[in-house]
Amino acid sequence: MTQAILIVDYGSQVTQLIARRVREAGVYCQVLPYNCDPARVAALAPSGLILSGGPASVLDAGAPHLPDFVLDGGVPILGICYGQQLLMQALGGQVAKSQSQEFGRAQLDIVGDHPLLTGLWAKGQTPQVWMSHGDKVTQPAPGFRVLGRSKGAPYALIAHEERPWFATQFHPEVVHTPDGAALLARFVRDICGCTGDWTMASYRVQAIAAVRAQVGQERVICALSGGVDSSVTAAVLHEAIGDQLTCIFVDHGLLRKHERAEVEALFSGTYNIPLITLDASDVFFAALEGEVDPEVKRKTIGRLFIELFEAEAKKIAGVKFLAQGTLYPDVIESVSFDGGPSVTIKSHHNVGGLPERMGLKLVEPLRELFKDEVRALGRELGLPERLIARHPFPGPGLAIRIPGAVDRAAADTLREVDAVYLDQIRKAGLYDEIWQAFAVLLPVRSVGVMGDGRTYERVVALRAVTSTDGMTADVYPFDPQFLTQTATRIVNEVRGVNRVLYDYTSKPPGTIEFE
Ligand code: XMP
Repeated sequence: MTQAILIVDYGSQVTQLIARRVREAGVYCQVLPYNCDPARVAALAPSGLILSGGPASVLDAGAPHLPDFVLDGGVPILGICYGQQLLMQALGGQVAKSQSQEFGRAQLDIVGDHPLLTGLWAKGQTPQVWMSHGDKVTQPAPGFRVLGRSKGAPYALIAHEERPWFATQFHPEVVHTPDGAALLARFVRDICGCTGDWTMASYRVQAIAAVRAQVGQERVICALSGGVDSSVTAAVLHEAIGDQLTCIFVDHGLLRKHERAEVEALFSGTYNIPLITLDASDVFFAALEGEVDPEVKRKTIGRLFIELFEAEAKKIAGVKFLAQGTLYPDVIESVSFDGGPSVTIKSHHNVGGLPERMGLKLVEPLRELFKDEVRALGRELGLPERLIARHPFPGPGLAIRIPGAVDRAAADTLREVDAVYLDQIRKAGLYDEIWQAFAVLLPVRSVGVMGDGRTYERVVALRAVTSTDGMTADVYPFDPQFLTQTATRIVNEVRGVNRVLYDYTSKPPGTIEFE
């Protein structure tokens, strides 16, 4: 069985980062809420526990508590921020509200030695760490000694004298603690004794065995989108069950240039997977005609996609399973403290409703993986780098990059602009530095001059962002010369466009897509 670390979640915004760091150290981990059923913890049999930070105060009545399984488990524990305060409170230390909140970079003075720090931080060093807290520990629990302190946090890093218990006031999981990943790696590998058996080579073997055990001799369908998640899902399924898998690719006419041909060449050509391509662009453009409301556009595309997919799937006899590229961040049960319903900013498009409608069971071989691990698994399976490193592309496709009404001509124009823009980015060697880059066809015309003539044509906006998960995004700072050259190429090479703008809005307050 793969060794595992349990991350006990107290609702921090960055709990997932702890999980990422542990995985990067080659160790499998799961995030579970602090109030989860202890049987789940027992089933995981973790080699160590990490208690996350969180927005609550241990001093408040009804604050999230330390469940019994933490101290009863007899395995190493690392408490971070709220996790530290909770651990200290439970073991007889003291926590108080600080006069002031400490937020941002701080200098840690290393004042003690410990095997946790061997080769990383020595006495006298002053590494940078990231703080974000209101409460702080004013008296550690008996048996703890100080390894590091900062101006605002005298117990910033503490360890128990005899037991493998540690706690930090700072956040080792964020990039602003430059050695934080190494500290977490030392904890999970050297203190918890995990050997680093979480590799995509071993996961591939496990995942394939699990798919075979789940599916048996039944038939499976998979909606291919050309994106990395559905492609890796299909590749795992294909390796596990060969031609019991049929892939369906719905071409809604809102794809990027050459996308359909690339998908067909890879899956039907190289892999020889039974692949059905539905050329449904007429149906989609007819349904979208004149529609300007972003949510109606999204819902129309999502509904049609499901209807077409369902109709096609019904033609394949004996299908019992639907394969889906669900990832770990989608299944983590996050702890929420406001209790209120979350606001729908945009309704995302997926094949969610189908399994119940068609009485299908789900196969989700990527359920345990983060996006970077999906890419690593794709490489392990031999998928081409061009596909693996591809920028995310939304299910509704170009429709949400054409604000206002969508028609075939607009989609054709945008496809060409997008292709020139991405070609420029690839040629400049910037593709992999950018999370997502795309063009948007704005519903305005502008006056221009070409040769001796007046033009009155469409305006496009270019967008490029960096991000780690799409939840927040920063604008990619292109060199102005790059943008000038790209704008010139677009206006020269794409008919019907005479002006190019660059979008300088980060997320928040903008979203990545325009609609
Ligand atoms: P927003 O626009 O919400 O986008 O900032 C965040 C990320 O999600 C992608 N996106 C989608 N992906 N189906 C998808 O599979 C959708 O309906 C959808 N809408 C947005 C978007 O491209 C960005 O990467």
